[in-house]
Amino acid sequence: MTTKVFLVGMPGCGKSTVGKVLAGLLGYVFLDLDTLVEEQEGLTVAQVFEQKGQEYFREAEARALQTVSARSGGVVLATGGGAPCFHGNMQVMGQQGAAVYLRVSPQELVNRLTALDLQVRPLLRDKTPAELLHYLTQTLRQREVFYSQASVVLDVDRLSAAEAAEALGQQF
Ligand code: S3P
Repeated sequence: MTTKVFLVGMPGCGKSTVGKVLAGLLGYVFLDLDTLVEEQEGLTVAQVFEQKGQEYFREAEARALQTVSARSGGVVLATGGGAPCFHGNMQVMGQQGAAVYLRVSPQELVNRLTALDLQVRPLLRDKTPAELLHYLTQTLRQREVFYSQASVVLDVDRLSAAEAAEALGQQF
């Protein structure tokens, strides 16, 4: 039985909202990798990027993922959008449980991301809507090779968080 479910996908795809509902359905603990990095580093994600740089953030993220992997018991983890692409993290997730890719089109991501979402994500800040769509399209193209290594791929463009969690709840 899988006791760790790792949700992967682009910023705005619903990893945290779906993850919380799914954890409730499965009776697992919900964890968020960005929050774990913040606790581990004593800084917000934005501060880690500003003060220490992205490379340091990626190392901190991989360390936090290792900590989750070492936990016992059922966990649903919402990972950061970039986490699958660094430090062999997809392999770690595959070895420790099951990775689930929540697939959303770039235009739907733009529709879903609120002003606050953009503000707290250093890689998305200060972009016009057109720049944001371009960035998300390019980035998704680069990341899909990692995301698609997940053992489950769910298209969630037209699903609510509750519907996505329900569909996943039947698989684990
Ligand atoms: C990032 C996504 C963020 C966070 C950081 C970097 C990325 O997580 O880890 O800002 O590289 O796409 P979310 O996917 O929760 O936004």
